[in-house]
Amino acid sequence: MKINVVVLDHVSKVYRVGVEDFTALHEVTLEVGEGAFMSIVGPSGSGKTTLLNLIGGLDRPTAGNISFRGRKLSEMSRDRLASYRRENIGFIFQTYNLLPVYSVYENVLFPLLLLGHRESEVRGKVMSLVQKVGLEPQVRKKPSELSGGQCQRVAIARALVKDPSLILADEPTANLDAENSFQILELMRDLNKQFQAAFLFSTHDEKVTRYISREVRLEDGRIMWDKRRNGHGELE
Ligand SMILES: Nc1ncnc2c1ncn2[C@@H]1O[C@H](COP(=O)(O)OP(=O)(O)OP(=O)(O)O)[C@@H](O)[C@H]1O
Ligand SMILES: [Mg+2]
Repeated sequence: MKINVVVLDHVSKVYRVGVEDFTALHEVTLEVGEGAFMSIVGPSGSGKTTLLNLIGGLDRPTAGNISFRGRKLSEMSRDRLASYRRENIGFIFQTYNLLPVYSVYENVLFPLLLLGHRESEVRGKVMSLVQKVGLEPQVRKKPSELSGGQCQRVAIARALVKDPSLILADEPTANLDAENSFQILELMRDLNKQFQAAFLFSTHDEKVTRYISREVRLEDGRIMWDKRRNGHGELE
């Protein structure tokens, strides 16, 4: 039986802009399977970030339902939704969002401290993630001493360290050159196989989409198509 991590059922999001309503998502129905590696593609303003934010519990839909492993986000209190995020979701952002005064090691450690772990218990785990993303030589450096690609590697390690079920990555390669974008996507694809986490990206970066096994196309807040990539890298 196919298991879904997240199910969206006719999800709409309406923003109030002044006195007018603007519908950013129209009745979006979508399933994200366990261990998926998929992307939301679409032009600027099509609703990609809105969709990821709703799935990540950073915002709530105006209508429709989002369930995470069968539990409805709409039935969670604000506090419960915050723990849902902390425990189950890893976020990767276009601009990395690292803590500037902390080292690579401390940035990756941070989510575990928030979950109540002691540093001495998780040191090995943090170091193994740092190693997996290839940053052992940089472990004591601060974000300002790293390249963009290296910063994104820290963000990936930080997202994975708490063993989340789902990684949400909003345009993770938008600030990287082609070479770094490929490397980051390859790294995420490897980690997707090694860890039990589904990866959901948003991107309009054509050059990285060939790495991604499923593409969902959004336009004006509506799903236009949902395609899977075959063994030859073609969508069908
Ligand atoms: N807080 C908000 N209030 C009002 N309108 C918003 C808000 N956030 C987003 N929107 C509108 O909703 C639409 C979808 O925005 P969203 O950020 O989800 O698009 P996107 O696909 O991520 O675009 P981009 O590729 O540029 O990041 C846009 O038209 C945007 O102007
Ligand atoms: Mg966006």
